[in-house]
Amino acid sequence: MRMVVLVSGRGSNLQAILDAIEDGRLAAEVAAVISDVPDAYALKRAERAGVPTYCIEKRDYSSRADFETALADCAEGARPDLIVLAGFMRVLGEAFLDRFPGKVINIHPSLLPSFRGLEAQRQALEAGVRYAGCTVHFVDLGVDSGLIIDQRVVRVLPGDDVETLSARILEQEHDLLVDAIRRFGAGLV
Ligand code: GAR
Repeated sequence: MRMVVLVSGRGSNLQAILDAIEDGRLAAEVAAVISDVPDAYALKRAERAGVPTYCIEKRDYSSRADFETALADCAEGARPDLIVLAGFMRVLGEAFLDRFPGKVINIHPSLLPSFRGLEAQRQALEAGVRYAGCTVHFVDLGVDSGLIIDQRVVRVLPGDDVETLSARILEQEHDLLVDAIRRFGAGLV
């Protein structure tokens, strides 16, 4: 299974995928990593693993559709079976998604459908929920609204702040994402 991973930042979820492949826990290949942020640390992780990297910045295009078309052209060049949004911080529209129907998944740090969009962990703390978590879902035209593939639950502990809660959710994200990719590859999703 050939994957393209889209990133915008730190890339710890990308690293979890690369580590799982390296350890033989995931029978797949990361064919390309594409970032919309030039200095995303995720690009360094990809380079270290010998994965081709690309950077496509929104500001170089006059419209969202043109940006997404460039992104889709770049992704298509790697002939992906699956596209993984791993900390990719933009909402994608038709110009991208129509090119890869049923092949784009995202990881989000909340128990969807609660707390869509940015700063999901902060939203959970502010809502006072006792259980938070993370979700892998198919990407549709809405914000974090596509079909849910799987989730993990994380207890909110007394005294948690955004940093401590995010760190515990992130641990679960890494495991959840690798597991969801494995199941997608096995035709179980
Ligand atoms: C992760 O917590 C991921 O769930 C979140 O950004 C972080 C990226 O971390 N994504 C979103 O909030 C998307 N709406 P990483 O770069 O270390 O994988």
